[in-house]
Amino acid sequence: MKLVSALSTFAYLVSRASAATGPVVTAKDLLGSPRLSGAVPNPAGTLALFSASTYNFEKHDSVKSFHIVDISEANGQVTKLWDDKNVMEAVWLGVEDWLGYLRTNGTKSEFWVAKAQLKDFVGDVHKVYTFPGAVSNLKVRAVGPSIHFVVSAPALKSGVMYSEDDAPKKHSTGRVYTSLFVRHWDEWIGEYKSNLFSGVISPSSDNKFELVGSLTNVLSGTELETPIAPFGGSGDFDISPDGHRVIFLSKDPKQDLAQNTASYVYAVPFDGSRKPTAINPHNGASSSPRFSPDGTKVAYLQMHENGYEADKNEIFVTSFSDSYEFVITQIANGWDRSPSSVTFSPHNKYLYLIAEDHGKEKIWTHPVVSADTDFPVPPEPLTSTFSVSEIYSIGGTEKLLVSASSLTSPTFYYRINAETGVIDQRLMSPLMTLSQTTTAPIEEGTWHGLSRSQISDFYYPNENFKHHAWMIKPSFFEEGKKYPLLFLIHGGPQGAWVDGWSYRWNPAVMAEQGYVVVAFNPTGSTGFGKDYTDRIQDEWGGRPFRDLEAGFAYLEQKFDFIDTTNAIAAGASYGGYMINWIAGQPFAKKFKALVCHDGIFNTLNMYATEELWFIDHDFKGQIFDHRHHFERWNPLGHVKNWTTPMMIIHSSKDYRIPISEALAAFNVLQIKGIKSKLLTFPDENHWVLKPENSLVWHREVFEWMNEFTGAGGVVSVEKETGDAVKEAPGMAIQSGDGHKAADILRHD
Ligand SMILES: *[C@@H]1O[C@H](CO)[C@@H](O)[C@H](O)[C@H]1NC(C)=O
Ligand SMILES: *[C@@H]1O[C@H](CO)[C@@H](O)[C@H](O)[C@H]1NC(C)=O
Repeated sequence: MKLVSALSTFAYLVSRASAATGPVVTAKDLLGSPRLSGAVPNPAGTLALFSASTYNFEKHDSVKSFHIVDISEANGQVTKLWDDKNVMEAVWLGVEDWLGYLRTNGTKSEFWVAKAQLKDFVGDVHKVYTFPGAVSNLKVRAVGPSIHFVVSAPALKSGVMYSEDDAPKKHSTGRVYTSLFVRHWDEWIGEYKSNLFSGVISPSSDNKFELVGSLTNVLSGTELETPIAPFGGSGDFDISPDGHRVIFLSKDPKQDLAQNTASYVYAVPFDGSRKPTAINPHNGASSSPRFSPDGTKVAYLQMHENGYEADKNEIFVTSFSDSYEFVITQIANGWDRSPSSVTFSPHNKYLYLIAEDHGKEKIWTHPVVSADTDFPVPPEPLTSTFSVSEIYSIGGTEKLLVSASSLTSPTFYYRINAETGVIDQRLMSPLMTLSQTTTAPIEEGTWHGLSRSQISDFYYPNENFKHHAWMIKPSFFEEGKKYPLLFLIHGGPQGAWVDGWSYRWNPAVMAEQGYVVVAFNPTGSTGFGKDYTDRIQDEWGGRPFRDLEAGFAYLEQKFDFIDTTNAIAAGASYGGYMINWIAGQPFAKKFKALVCHDGIFNTLNMYATEELWFIDHDFKGQIFDHRHHFERWNPLGHVKNWTTPMMIIHSSKDYRIPISEALAAFNVLQIKGIKSKLLTFPDENHWVLKPENSLVWHREVFEWMNEFTGAGGVVSVEKETGDAVKEAPGMAIQSGDGHKAADILRHD
């Protein structure tokens, strides 16, 4: 067995013989370039605020900076606001160009304000308040000259904000549990729940803001918790325009958190003068609660089925009365798409939705109507390309500021007229200014020498359905040449490969190693209708597996530039499960090697996961009553036939799919004498997030693939120098915010 120490090889990078046909984007470019947040316009609609997180591989350090961009101009001027490592998040206060931001100081957070100016920032900076502990998810609403705000923070049972300084010192690490749900994602469940604290700041006589009164825990005296872990944020709550009310999401504390997805939109007075009331009566998970601009309505999304996190999101609008009684209307219920967010247009006329459709995240509009029968047509798509992540009305008009990405570009911003659908072609690319590496016009949705001509998609038939796949060619693709195949399988399984950028499993960066990458959206994928998603239940190794086999056969027949005899298959999470499943089937003979990241090896072990609803739903029953459902699609049942070389990646803090799956699979591979490699990180979860770890991930995965296919042009291993760094073929990183990353189990 080869024992590879990540540390001993750490200082070495693989470099290419010839730069002429080399990758235009390496993993190091991917991981070392500024990672932009969505852009949020100021009240006047002239400036937008965004953050950039940048990792520096020379200093081994990351910096998060905040910027404003002039959105009245094409490629508008970008101004860096401050370069303070301790600033965590920033928002427009809604009064002139005042910004509010949270700063970390030891164990406490501080509330600061500053006035943004396009040139020579910053004026009038001052600290307003020091919280007793660490807070996050600052959300504000300007009410006259005052600012109503909420922040989330862990709280004691008494409702008091948790303060690390005051907490009793513990001398043992033991944990005791007597009920379900002992850990989640990458954390063991602790004793403090995340609550929501409201407060008001007002300008004082000397043009400084100060806290008025004290903070109120609006969840005090309840078992409620917001935002919803592990991925919820300030989008899980909203403050009414008059500042009198707060709405927030919480799971139902009466139902255990491991077997139920049910969550509700709760409404509570801003001053906490009455207990929170659940607005909605349905059963499934709720999301995206938003007040209308006039404060009379709340829009939100909710699934019907409790225990099925990939159920269709239905759209609801409810009236909001002073007596906390709610009249709910369902909107567009015949629409066979599942939106991920909903907001009102500035004049309460439309709902703006973001929903996945055929491998793209599109913006949709729908009139706000009193009942669905008033308007029996589905929402209309406003966009047809790329993947939209965030939208905001510009200056209270029907123009939207859109944050989007594509398979060939990280985050970029543009304006669109939501009434006419006219996209303002003057796209803004702060990346150009920030990294000065963009070599192609941003208008094409490209970055760093990548081109839209590399991207295509196709449909192929199998078992009465048409199945979608993306194809990504390398930037140096030449007609008449053949390229090895990288066959990608997404996680979820209720997820999809979309025309969006990712810092993990980035198909364009993988293609730059010299592959034609084909990323399949087989049965179970999202964005192709509810039935298509639902059909994977109790079929994990069935329908999607046969769709993938048919997809491979289609590539063999249709694309003569793909050398299908020189192929690698790779996948993470459910995609990793599928790799383990394929390994035991005759289909494995099609591949020279496999890559399995966080895959399930033994489905009978899946009760060691944390969100049990997922496994119960997907295997249609609980393991003690329906063991045969779990056994039917168990990769372990077919290990006798494993012969294909496999690389396995799995990390210790993956509590969704525990690392024992990887250890068992690797032991089998080694005992059977099958060429195999294990890569593991003690400090990563289901995703490899730390840039240096991700760089190692890319190096090890690319070396593994290229060794079998001869791709990558790897000729030497050199000690790292400044120059060698630039030439290194793909190395890479990860962002914590990639909620659409395709390597996830849907419930992750
Ligand atoms: C933290 O807060 C203390 C007390 O306000 C202050 O003296 C100190 O400078 C702050 N430290 C940082 C790093 O901001
Ligand atoms: C192994 O492969 C053979 C030939 O395809 C097949 O007949 C057999 O059922 C397979 N065994 C398992 C355990 O999958």
